[in-house]
Amino acid sequence: MKRRGLRNVLVLILIVLVLLALAVLFGLFRTSSVSPDVKQALTEAQKQELLPRGRELALAGDCFGCHSKTEGPKAAGGVPIATPFGTLHSTNITPDPTYGIGQYTREDFHRVLRDGIAPGNRNLYPGMPFVFTHVTRTEDIDALYAYMMSLPPIAEPNVPNTGVFTLPVRPFMNFWTLINFPKRQPPTREGASEQWLRGAYLVEGLGHCASCHTPRNLTMGVSFDKHFQGGDIVDGLVVPNITAETLAQRGFDAASLSQYLRTGMSAQGTAFGGMYTVVHFSTSEMEPADIDAIATYLMTDENGQLLTPPPGPAPLAQASQPLLQPGRYHYASACAGCHGAQGEGIPNVAPPMDGNTAVMMSNPSNLITVILQGIDTQTFTGNQRMYAMPGFADRMNNEDIALLASWMRAQWGGQEEAVTAAQVQAIRAKQ
Ligand code: HEC
Ligand code: HEC
Ligand code: HEC
Repeated sequence: MKRRGLRNVLVLILIVLVLLALAVLFGLFRTSSVSPDVKQALTEAQKQELLPRGRELALAGDCFGCHSKTEGPKAAGGVPIATPFGTLHSTNITPDPTYGIGQYTREDFHRVLRDGIAPGNRNLYPGMPFVFTHVTRTEDIDALYAYMMSLPPIAEPNVPNTGVFTLPVRPFMNFWTLINFPKRQPPTREGASEQWLRGAYLVEGLGHCASCHTPRNLTMGVSFDKHFQGGDIVDGLVVPNITAETLAQRGFDAASLSQYLRTGMSAQGTAFGGMYTVVHFSTSEMEPADIDAIATYLMTDENGQLLTPPPGPAPLAQASQPLLQPGRYHYASACAGCHGAQGEGIPNVAPPMDGNTAVMMSNPSNLITVILQGIDTQTFTGNQRMYAMPGFADRMNNEDIALLASWMRAQWGGQEEAVTAAQVQAIRAKQ
């Protein structure tokens, strides 16, 4: 009798769990956060008026960076995003009625940006950064909608996804969002300036800076409790910590940070890898006032203090000790011609190494990666150019690169910990 009672309880629990799982799978917990006011279509006059604002927000949201192939038509999609489970492609978001979003109503568009759900109740994968665009205000989503709908339609079919994304797995995203989609609000702070508020709104929302700069948890959700602490590897580079304290330690203040985001170049170094794409498609094209706001927000610490940098690190004693002298010689013979004898950089040739954030990062990984691989020629704002950074993988062995990197870190980076040949080999092996 007693055993049967226990069994009944277990069966009941099991049934409840299965029902709950089904409820999640069928999206019962995915309520719409879209304002009911957007059911009505916008008038042509309203749309016209919203265009300039929409353009700026589309740039802030890097819609074109993700939705346009490098040489392909603007916003026509097809950019591959590799994941361990297969390759996902961004889609055509031009107003083409067949292949793009031409049939989208105002409400459909709001639902994508606020909730990550496309028409036909299609759960979008978080490759589309709806976890961030969610905070965008109704009138701003309207502006984005008006602007996207004003682009030339392009009849380009979507590129099929591969791997697990070919299976009917979209409903399973309901489990993912249950744990990884906090319903965040536009950030506020008592007594904050208009500028701080604007910066916070752009950085935490459309700008989705945290999609790279905040580490991910085991299920690939954003660990908002480690906001901007960096450390994950994106396209072969370790993403730096961009909390206000760390940026200041690496020599940034609001003015130089703004310059870095507007032009991709500053005394602290150039933008490369994934960050170059962000600067190229998004921040360098935005209104300077918005970039100043972003820089102000990022340089403000938790107490509301706008931080300025302490004096840069003095050369450590080990930089002049015999062990690291081969590193100094490698620098003089292979690097100084472009980066300057004292690491001071040469305008229109190469950025400084003295005060360069890649040299100051406690993790030496990016420094080693750049020395091995180099950086392809990049164009900067106003068609400014520098030389290309050559790769030294074929010209220097692991031991040479380890000594060179150790000396540079001690001389200019304030980093005591020596780089080992094994660390260089580990990165070389991945290329
Ligand atoms: C980090 C890359 C990235 C950025 C930035 C991005 N998107 Fe997307 N977007 C994607 C991917 C990938 C998909 C496809 C997701 C899927 O298939 O589930 C997508 C899907 C969409 C869709 C759904 C299309 C459909 O019906 O299938 C819309 C609409 C959209 N994006 C609009 C935008 C807008 C507007 C912006 C700028 C505010 C933007 N996206 C920024 C990656 C991005
Ligand atoms: C032919 C000129 C040239 C030589 C030689 C050269 N570099 Fe560079 N280096 C550059 C340029 C130009 C960039 C910036 C490229 C960009 O961002 O587009 C760069 C970037 C870098 C960076 C990334 C930091 C940043 O702010 O972009 C590091 C680190 C670096 N170089 C280290 C070295 C070291 C170490 C050597 C010697 C082994 C070396 N470079 C030799 C031209 C050179
Ligand atoms: C696609 C991933 C990605 C996104 C999105 C991204 N970043 Fe970055 N960011 C990087 C990587 C990788 C680096 C390191 C390479 C470099 O210094 O250029 C970097 C470097 C930086 C640096 C330089 C830090 C230092 O110490 O040198 C700043 C500042 C920065 N990012 C700010 C931002 C802001 C602001 C946004 C949002 C508008 C953003 N990033 C979005 C990947 C990203």
